[in-house]
Amino acid sequence: MAINFNVVCTMSIILNLFLAAMEAQAGALDVVTKFGAKADLNIDLSKPLLDAWKEACASPTPTTILIPEGTYLLSQATLEGPFKAPIKLKVQSNIKAPADPKAFKEPKWVSFLHVENFKFFGGGAFDGQGTAAYKREDSPNTDGIHIGRSKGVKIINTNIKTGDDCISIGDGSKNLDITGVTCGPGHGISISSLGKFANEEPVEGIKVSNCTLTNTSNGVRIKTWAGQFPGIASDIHFEDITMANVSCLILIDQKYCP
Ligand SMILES: *[C@@H]1O[C@H](CO)[C@@H](O)[C@H](O)[C@H]1NC(C)=O
Ligand SMILES: *[C@@H]1O[C@H](CO)[C@@H](O)[C@H](O)[C@H]1NC(C)=O
Ligand SMILES: *[C@@H]1O[C@H](CO)[C@@H](O)[C@H](O)[C@H]1NC(C)=O
Repeated sequence: MAINFNVVCTMSIILNLFLAAMEAQAGALDVVTKFGAKADLNIDLSKPLLDAWKEACASPTPTTILIPEGTYLLSQATLEGPFKAPIKLKVQSNIKAPADPKAFKEPKWVSFLHVENFKFFGGGAFDGQGTAAYKREDSPNTDGIHIGRSKGVKIINTNIKTGDDCISIGDGSKNLDITGVTCGPGHGISISSLGKFANEEPVEGIKVSNCTLTNTSNGVRIKTWAGQFPGIASDIHFEDITMANVSCLILIDQKYCP
């Protein structure tokens, strides 16, 4: 998986406007100068990043965590709220996962949980080193970005190359805006595998626009498990999507599994 992004997640337009106004006062927490991170593939960014995150969470005023240019190794990170004031994470760097998939204890690399008023941007790249571990088009369960149980997330101007869904949208996703995303290789953009578990929350208000998919197995799809548990996916818009060398452009599959 490799993700190049400009802006990945923000929680709402209105808050963004406030953020812009408050930015002038925000002090940048530079992981290199303040938390001892090094752009060195033998040194894990995980602890300095978590230390910076902890300080940002405790701050009563808006903060920006900065990962400056350079190539870093990140073994795993779970960045968890709540926090008191808006946080921005500015990543200008190239961040690599361990090349050996066995280094992962869980099937996820960088996670954001319970965040609100959060923006993640900076033009950097997350490189899962999938090509070292797998033939990229075949890498199993390597969704580029997975979103679930979240409202008002925007993904803007982001490039995703992976072996599974570029973006997968799980239960409880509401009012998502996905635009300017370039996907491929990968499995496309999916409302993904609903109905597997009891008590899933509805997916509603999904807008995917101005996206380009190239060399992907699917374009846009909605997939659910057959006859398991009831679920709802509504108010879903896919518009202005350009596809090249995509095997199955639009797929609504109500018997995805088992
Ligand atoms: C469409 O997406 C591209 C990125 O693929 C971006 O550069 C461009 O500004 C977007 N256009 C609009 C109208 O948002
Ligand atoms: C189409 O995409 C597949 C990967 O999904 C790739 O193997 C193939 O070479 C591509 N073909 C062209 C003509 O780009
Ligand atoms: C699509 O696949 C072909 C053949 O493998 C490759 O030459 C081309 O660069 C790919 N396009 C993108 C945008 O990845």
